[in-house]
Amino acid sequence: MRIRVGSLEALQTEGRLTTKAGGHGVCVFWHEGRAYALDDRCPHMGFPLHRGSLEAGLVTCHWHHARFDLATGGTLDPFADDARAFPVEVEGDDVYLVVGAPDNRVDHHRRRLAEGLEGGLTLVSAKAVLGLLEAGVPVAEIVQVGVEFGTANRAQGWGSGLTVLVAMANLLPWLDPSDHALALVHGLAFVARDTAGRPPRFPLSPLGDVAVAPVSADRLTDWYRRFVETRSGDAAERVLVTALSASADAATVSQMMTAAATDHVFIDVGHTLDFTNKAFEAVEHLGWGAAEAVLPTLTEQTAGASRSEEGSRWRHPHDLAALVRSTEERLPALLAEGRARLGEFHDVSGLGWRLLEDDPYAVVASICDAITAGATPEQLGRALALAGALRITRFHVQNDFGDWDAVHHGFTYANALHQCLVRHPSDELVRGVVHGALRVYLDRFLNVPAARLPASVDASLGDLQACWDGQGGVDQAGAIAYGWLKAGGDPRRLVAALGHALLSEDAGFHWFQIVEAAVRQHAAWPAGSEEAALILVGAARFLAAHTPTRRELPHVVRTAARLRRGDDLFEES
Ligand code: FES
Repeated sequence: MRIRVGSLEALQTEGRLTTKAGGHGVCVFWHEGRAYALDDRCPHMGFPLHRGSLEAGLVTCHWHHARFDLATGGTLDPFADDARAFPVEVEGDDVYLVVGAPDNRVDHHRRRLAEGLEGGLTLVSAKAVLGLLEAGVPVAEIVQVGVEFGTANRAQGWGSGLTVLVAMANLLPWLDPSDHALALVHGLAFVARDTAGRPPRFPLSPLGDVAVAPVSADRLTDWYRRFVETRSGDAAERVLVTALSASADAATVSQMMTAAATDHVFIDVGHTLDFTNKAFEAVEHLGWGAAEAVLPTLTEQTAGASRSEEGSRWRHPHDLAALVRSTEERLPALLAEGRARLGEFHDVSGLGWRLLEDDPYAVVASICDAITAGATPEQLGRALALAGALRITRFHVQNDFGDWDAVHHGFTYANALHQCLVRHPSDELVRGVVHGALRVYLDRFLNVPAARLPASVDASLGDLQACWDGQGGVDQAGAIAYGWLKAGGDPRRLVAALGHALLSEDAGFHWFQIVEAAVRQHAAWPAGSEEAALILVGAARFLAAHTPTRRELPHVVRTAARLRRGDDLFEES
């Protein structure tokens, strides 16, 4: 299509003319004896380019001074974006704009997303995510860009950034569709921050040609655990890569990695098991083909993790490390006894409450009794996660503010363990239930006094906003969430509201973990159950304790959305 812009004489006299093409403003410039045309909206934040400066074949936007090549629209400042250029034809004294179909924008958005991650440019990433979602690109493909970038650009391997990204991918089906882009941008921004200024990762190769002399899976598992034990991260990685390249199945690899992650007690304050679980969830989103690139990124973290039994809290006044050891020695016999009655245990909630007892020996006895009574690994993990959640639901605000993080660690570890036990249960992994229960035991003083369990209040979900906007609304947020559920409110709407509250803030790493874990755990209980309600109450209380923030990232995503809609961001009074 050709659009007449004006006369050549006018263009030469004015230096620039504007016109409309498909609802967009386009500016035709006269520079150095020829005509050029660019979309008139600066791709950064929409300032009219016809008001920019022309010099040496470049147009400079006057708002943040991004520079663009007049001929191609390409930017010299990656924080902006390439402007769309149009061909111009001059016939006699008439100047025409030639408007064709826009280029393939999906490739462009993919490239811009990678550049946004590399430069830590949240606005660029946000525009790319919005463009990809609008083009119908599946969420898994957007997550894949982030996972590939995060695994390649962090020598230490898997970290908090990728954990947040996968948590957001998990949460997406629970969120209002209008929050999907925001959730992904939060995760991607975390990946960008987590890799910024860090050396890249150089993956190791397998141990020779596995087809010639394959090492058995049992031997590889034994080696992997041995090398993690001796903190030989590189050796552990080569073993894992060898197993993966030899087509070890997911259950074998999971057993290898989760056994190593539970050979010591509550390693790296629970983060190692959480990261391991999230890496497996990433592979579930991307397909098992991604395992070879993703899972070996865990080895360095696992081998280097702190081991809780070395800390004094686990030694005095009770020698919890010794209690763990003696219990682990008994576990094979207990599990064998329980297998004969598997499925006969039904008191998961009661077990969860018993794990809150003041006596560590009683806590461990409850687990052992449940095992011999036929509790499944899933039930054990779910009971532990309930106990961890109740620590948050009953966390008293008179505690030190930093202690929210203490109860957070017990709960998110328990959720990760539960997911692992559901995915690939193993006897070794059941040791993690003992570790987690004793960690929940150690946090008992954060429930002294215990915050009262919420009473139903007659309130709507809209009333939660006041809890996010001001400080001190912790118990109120819990009461509103509880009241909503007890009045028969749709739990999905409460979950979406909690998700929206999370995404509306400059949320920290632990917030994402808490909300996602609470959503997963509430869904593990029957709809309408007291347990599901109390778990979500804990998440609401945690959020209310930490809000409000400056809300900078959500503002950036809103700006990106307005730019895509064509709103004017630049206005003069
Ligand atoms: S550089 Fe043009 S709007 Fe920012």
